[in-house]
Amino acid sequence: TQYEFILTDKPADGVALITLNRPKALNALSSPLFKELNAALARFDEDDTVGAMVITGSERAFAAGADIKEMKDKTYADVYSNKFIENWGEIARLRKPVIAAVSGYALGGGCELALMCDIILASPTATFGQPEISIGVIPGGGGTQRLARVIGKSRTMELTLTGRNVSADEAAAWGMVSRVVPPEEGTVVEAAVKLAGTIASKSRIAVQAGKDAVNAAYEGTLAEGLVTERRIFHGLFATQDQKEGMAAFAEKRKPVWKHQ
Ligand code: HXC
Repeated sequence: TQYEFILTDKPADGVALITLNRPKALNALSSPLFKELNAALARFDEDDTVGAMVITGSERAFAAGADIKEMKDKTYADVYSNKFIENWGEIARLRKPVIAAVSGYALGGGCELALMCDIILASPTATFGQPEISIGVIPGGGGTQRLARVIGKSRTMELTLTGRNVSADEAAAWGMVSRVVPPEEGTVVEAAVKLAGTIASKSRIAVQAGKDAVNAAYEGTLAEGLVTERRIFHGLFATQDQKEGMAAFAEKRKPVWKHQ
């Protein structure tokens, strides 16, 4: 499939890579770009040769936000009746894990896009922030909600109400990103592809179950989450991969996954 605003690739076994590609606009997330991103993610989610996906941008910008030039003349009726940015939520409904490999600016909608992913890896140059307040609005792609769950109320309030940026190290200290990839480990994209490859080498059905269970921690109560986890865990005993994984351990050999 040919896309205009993104590049797609399969850089390693089981791994799909999507590169946001509007470099001159610092990967501003226009509606056409987001439509292509959703289409590519949906296609890889269905692709049996893919076990995990990576989204990245350029070295200078993961994404500098929603496209301000596209938004600036919209009316309330436009955004409400067209459900503006509602399709952004599709990323959070994918079965397979999505890793954000962030270099440079991840601002506004760019920060929110990273937060919708399952894992965030940052380069030392990564800069996160929700600068919407400085253009007369607030985050609309989940920033206030996802950040509050990840870094807490006080920090989320500060970022949302001042628009100040956060460095990669600060984001790591706050638990917003898994880690900052040091230069000697290569680029953040290389590290993300390697991580995605590790995930893709596991039982797909167990990976999907793990993702579902962790996501349950962000909904409802702890008691409900614990029940959900246990039910999903119990359910895995109906899979061939549970039999294979445990038999392989007992027989001191590598498992051969059936992904079912
Ligand atoms: C449209 C953008 C853009 C954006 C950058 N550009 N960000 N275009 N929407 N979000 C364009 C610039 O207009 C410029 O185009 C080119 O990219 C390069 O940007 P510069 O500003 O010249 O680069 P620099 O001076 O290095 O500054 C980088 C920057 C700045 C600090 C990231 O671009 C910036 O502040 N961008 C806006 C960040 C922002 O407010 N994001 C939140 C958007 S609101 P030209 O044509 O002049 O070369 C949002 C709402 C989310 O995301 C809620 C809905 C999901």
